[in-house]
Amino acid sequence: MKVLLENLTKKFPNRNKKAGGDVVAVDHFCFEIPDGELVGLLGPSGCGKSTALFMICGLQKPTEGKIFFGEQEVTNLPPEERGVGVVFQNYALYPHLTVLQNITFPLENLKGEEKLTKEQMKEKAYEAAKLVQIEELMERKPSELSGGQQQRVAIARALVKRPKVLLLDEPLSNLDARLRLQTREEIRRIQQETKITTIFVTHDQEEAMSITDRIVVMEAGRVHQIGKPQDVYDDPVDLFVAKFLGTPPINVFDGKVQSGKLCVGEEAVLDAPGVADQDVTVGIRPEGFVLDPNGAFTCQLSRVEVMGRDVSVVSTHEKCQGKTIRSIIQAENAIDLSAKEIRFTLKKAKVLLFQKDTGERIRY
Ligand SMILES: Nc1ncnc2c1ncn2[C@@H]1O[C@H](COP(=O)(O)OP(=O)(O)OP(=O)(O)O)[C@@H](O)[C@H]1O
Ligand SMILES: [Mg+2]
Repeated sequence: MKVLLENLTKKFPNRNKKAGGDVVAVDHFCFEIPDGELVGLLGPSGCGKSTALFMICGLQKPTEGKIFFGEQEVTNLPPEERGVGVVFQNYALYPHLTVLQNITFPLENLKGEEKLTKEQMKEKAYEAAKLVQIEELMERKPSELSGGQQQRVAIARALVKRPKVLLLDEPLSNLDARLRLQTREEIRRIQQETKITTIFVTHDQEEAMSITDRIVVMEAGRVHQIGKPQDVYDDPVDLFVAKFLGTPPINVFDGKVQSGKLCVGEEAVLDAPGVADQDVTVGIRPEGFVLDPNGAFTCQLSRVEVMGRDVSVVSTHEKCQGKTIRSIIQAENAIDLSAKEIRFTLKKAKVLLFQKDTGERIRY
């Protein structure tokens, strides 16, 4: 089922009268989620992810704008008529019910033709439980499950009605690192098996990058960029997006363009033909540094951290906006740890320029 958002907006009245004005939680969202895709809504805390999801599932009414599922407008349909399955940010299960009863719960109040017998409900619950591999736990109470198992029960409960659209709000937030990794792969597998159009909310860029077909990067209610994870990483529209994606994060410097050359400090570090003379913000991805004793980009070496296949070289530069620069170098490269200075040449595709004031990308 394709999902289309048209100028979707949600304003909340500001209770702090002095501050005045409304809180615009979601600001004119316009985008289409193609049928069967897994889309990640990615942005920092408070940027409007949950609010967007609440409107899509029908629990909150938009201030403005429309929502379509396929060709049908659902903006004013109640949640139970939209065919959505939701795993909320606090995926609370009913503590007094067994896993089986928790999963069949959404089926209990079906009416008319859709009404199911106890046997049919059980059958559907087991189907959903099988997808998330918790069939053995059906008689337990939530308190007798691990966090990861509880999270999977919540996902089974969202899947049991075979929703047309699946909405997951930070569904992995309470899991430890290993389980998080495992469960996110499971979500991807289930999504690919069922081909349910899925919206996955997270503030974790790595999570979004690793399992989604497409990510929507947002900030303060506004969409910055939509695209395939790799495209958004390689070709961000602005500094916010560039900084939000990538671990270690992009290194940011004050620089300037002069006569077609990019300068960081005194040194001309790269050709930037066709860019007008101006002060710029320079973003260099950690993998954009190449060790070169004759390189023009000179940093003060702090330390080297071994990470197995790669090493992370930590250094400083007076024009760097952050405290340190992190560059990722292949481990075969010998680095003189006693040296004060370390020199690099830069990979052009990994050096991004932005307008100093707006943060907008300057392509060159
Ligand atoms: N009922 C409400 N009344 C007033 N303001 C609200 C209400 N719900 C949310 N907000 C505000 O709207 C903005 C977006 O909130 P939302 O919960 O959508 O953020 P989020 O991206 O899901 O954040 P998180 O990652 O922390 O869950 C925030 O500034 C929040 O304070
Ligand atoms: Mg939220």
